[in-house]
Amino acid sequence: MEKIIEFKNVDYAVEEQKNKKHFILKNITLEIKKGELVCVIGLNGCGKSTFAKLLSGLISPTSGLINICGLNTQNPDHSYQIRKKVGIIFQNPDNQIIASTIEEEIAFGLENLCIPREKMKARIKSSLCAVGMEGFEKKLTSTLSGGQKQRLNIASVLAMQPEIIVLDEPTSMLDSVSRKNILDLLLKIKSIHKTTIVLVTHFMEEAVLSNKVLFIEDRKVNFLGNPYELFSDEVFLKTPSLTPMQSSQILSFIKSLGYKVSMKALKTKDCANEIIKILENHKK
Ligand SMILES: Nc1ncnc2c1ncn2[C@@H]1O[C@H](COP(=O)(O)OP(=O)(O)OP(=O)(O)O)[C@@H](O)[C@H]1O
Ligand SMILES: [Mg+2]
Repeated sequence: MEKIIEFKNVDYAVEEQKNKKHFILKNITLEIKKGELVCVIGLNGCGKSTFAKLLSGLISPTSGLINICGLNTQNPDHSYQIRKKVGIIFQNPDNQIIASTIEEEIAFGLENLCIPREKMKARIKSSLCAVGMEGFEKKLTSTLSGGQKQRLNIASVLAMQPEIIVLDEPTSMLDSVSRKNILDLLLKIKSIHKTTIVLVTHFMEEAVLSNKVLFIEDRKVNFLGNPYELFSDEVFLKTPSLTPMQSSQILSFIKSLGYKVSMKALKTKDCANEIIKILENHKK
């Protein structure tokens, strides 16, 4: 798989006082491949949103290099191309909606990309269909629920046909049903369009569905790899304030009682099967 995102020795610092730098991210070197779903996790304030903004070209690194689809985010000549290739969705669905009707909202992004009017209608229709909101064109954006607003934001981004979608905690203001709908939608987009998706999340249940998880700690990449490997790691499970999956907590407790248990049985069904296996062995 070809790489689509590349960070080379990236630092991001802000000037706290005159001549005194405060590093938010330090020496980040990583690659993300085309079509991957990567979840970014870490404690509050560890730099996840900063990472998402760097990756979208919204801010530039203080030093180092970021390449998106071969384009350098520090080169102002590339910024239009990068805007076409990367779609961004933030936490609060309301903050991103500006138009009064749904079709105007999606058209707004397309106008920015200079998509001709005659092509817009079809793009609006198919992106609304992809998020399960077919026929919603004329509806007022103010009448939508939080979950529908976030799906509209995803439709607006999809209509622009980006190669990468970056989402910064898009489900944190939604109930569990809407959260699952958004997750299912992202997995569908990934499998149909082979879109690369970078999802910042506080929910380990979301992160476990990713191809790779990026764990940021102490301004650096602590881990980038298979979520099962990280989530079954005893040290990670004890990281304060990162709420582990319920399945990890249960498995970890069973293990502490002295039973042999696979810490990788994280999906609900696998975890249940693991418990049944232990109970059956216990009876013997
Ligand atoms: N422009 C800025 N100037 C000064 N400090 C900043 C700036 N941007 C971010 N920070 C600080 O950098 C740190 C990382 O911020 P960031 O928003 O990236 O964290 P986060 O991991 O997204 O947090 P959360 O989980 O709360 O969303 C925080 O301590 C924040 O206060
Ligand atoms: Mg954040």
